[in-house]
Amino acid sequence: MFFGIIVVNKKKGSKHITTLYEGAFAKINLTLDVLDKRPDGYHDIQSVMQTISIRDDIEIDVDTGKPWTLICDKEGVPTDHRNLAWKAAEVFFEQTRRQTTGLEIRITKRIPMEAGMGGGSADAAAVLRALNRHYGEPLSIMALAELGSLVGSDVPFCVLCGTAMVEGRGERVRKLPDMPDCCFVVCKPDFSVSTPELYKKIDDSTIPHRPDHQKMESAILAGDLGKIAENIYNVFDPVVTQEHLELNYIKSIYNSYGSIAQQMTGSGSAVFAIVQDFEYAAVICNMLRENYPNVFIAKPV
Ligand code: C5P
Repeated sequence: MFFGIIVVNKKKGSKHITTLYEGAFAKINLTLDVLDKRPDGYHDIQSVMQTISIRDDIEIDVDTGKPWTLICDKEGVPTDHRNLAWKAAEVFFEQTRRQTTGLEIRITKRIPMEAGMGGGSADAAAVLRALNRHYGEPLSIMALAELGSLVGSDVPFCVLCGTAMVEGRGERVRKLPDMPDCCFVVCKPDFSVSTPELYKKIDDSTIPHRPDHQKMESAILAGDLGKIAENIYNVFDPVVTQEHLELNYIKSIYNSYGSIAQQMTGSGSAVFAIVQDFEYAAVICNMLRENYPNVFIAKPV
């Protein structure tokens, strides 16, 4: 499943510039468990991740003959080497020993930020896919995902997309069959959560309940949406909900209008629901939009 097209030789002044286009798709965590702290300071996790149809658009001009630039239509996004998309381009050129006379990366942002939806990682993964395709696929898709782990924990999954079991810090990705068709509603409340602080809180407490990954994998293998819904669980959810009771309000709206599962994604603060019919999703969306500007309907991709 790939999303890019290439437009070659667009004329800009006297120069011919190649523009690459690629979709950068958000993820949600159907499950998320935090295991031990590693010597590198990160934690091992186990998570079933799912790509969803909320996306940023990435455009890359290659061989611009000018210094690298990054432009984003949303304020507050870093526009230099701190942006994971920039970092991804750097590691791609280092690893493949390809060269360019200059890059311009343009990002149209739709994935909410600080949401636990992997927006920055999705952008980085899209840059890796687009450059790899443009330069004649010097790296296999698995090698590209491995390279992504140098950029960020969620990047390997975002390179591969679909439904997958993700382990280690995020570098071990095992593809699973696509989850059955359904609708997601995703609501991003106004507050944000600090990911490092959340990991620290988890370290300082005992985790009372964990996802059952065997059951979740069996449900996905069987294509059983009801069983998938039963096994959705994120260990961060109760920790964040304790401090932000608003998440319970969002979940209660989901629950009252036909959702079969509701849970926070990643380290938050977005909360998603699984809904079987688009009509229910639309009703939920209308209800929540009264209080939340950032509500989306999405499909599994
Ligand atoms: O992956 P990201 O850079 O968003 O992570 C931010 C912080 O969250 C890390 O610096 C680390 O403190 C913590 N983290 C962790 N284990 C992970 C992912 C993140 O401890 N698997």
